[in-house]
Amino acid sequence: MKLLEERILKDGVALNSDVLLVDSFLNHQVDMGLMQEIGREFARIFAGKGINKIATIESSGIAPAGQAALAMGVPLLVMKKSTSSILSEELLQTPVASFTKGSTYQLTTKRKYLSKGDSVLFIDDFLANGEAALGAARLIESAGATVAGIGIVIEKAFQPGRLRLIEAGYHPVSLAAVSHMETGIISFVESVS
Ligand code: G4P
Repeated sequence: MKLLEERILKDGVALNSDVLLVDSFLNHQVDMGLMQEIGREFARIFAGKGINKIATIESSGIAPAGQAALAMGVPLLVMKKSTSSILSEELLQTPVASFTKGSTYQLTTKRKYLSKGDSVLFIDDFLANGEAALGAARLIESAGATVAGIGIVIEKAFQPGRLRLIEAGYHPVSLAAVSHMETGIISFVESVS
C-alpha cells in the first residue's frame, strides 16, 4: 500500500536493523485518517471471503482492525493479554511468547464471542516472529471457528513470521513488507497493493 509505505519512509524510524518505530502514527499517537484508508484496503482485499468477524490483539491492533471492521460492517473482537492463566469455562486462553519483549502472556477471549461457524479475519499491526498471529489462530480454531484470513499492517519480512504462518497453513497479507532496515534506511519487499 503506497500511502503506508510513504508514511513509514516519512515518519518511521529504524532504531537499528530489527526495530521500526512508528509511534507517531500507529503505536502511540494514531493517525485515524491513515487507519481509515488501511481499514478500507483490508476490506477490499478480503471482500467476498464470507468474513463475519474481525479479531485483533490489544492494544495497537485495535485502530487498524477497528477501521477494517467498520469498512466491512462486522464486529471487532479484541483479544486480551492476561498475565495469568485462568481456568474458567467462560474463557479461551493460549500462551503467546514475545521475542521482541522477552515475555509471555495468556492470549484471552470470552468463549461466547467466538462460535462454531464464525469466519474470522485476524488483523494486527506488526508481523515479526508470528507468535501473536499463531496464538490468535489457535484461539479462533479452538472455538470451532475458521481463520478466513490474516491481515498485517507492517510485516518485517526479514523475520520468520511469514514462513511460520505459511508452514501452519495460513497466508498472511501485509500492506507494507519491510525487507531491510538499518539506522536511517528502510527498504520494502514490494508494494502489495
Ligand atoms: P510476533 O507476535 O510476530 O512474534 O512478534 P513479537 O513477539 O516479536 O512482538 C511483540 C510485540 O512487539 C508486539 O506488540 C509487536 O507488535 C511489537 N513489535 C515487534 N516488532 C516491532 C517493531 O519493529 N516495531 C514496533 N513498533 N513494534 C514491534 P505488542 O506487545 O502486542 O504491543 P502493543 O500491541 O500493545 O503495542
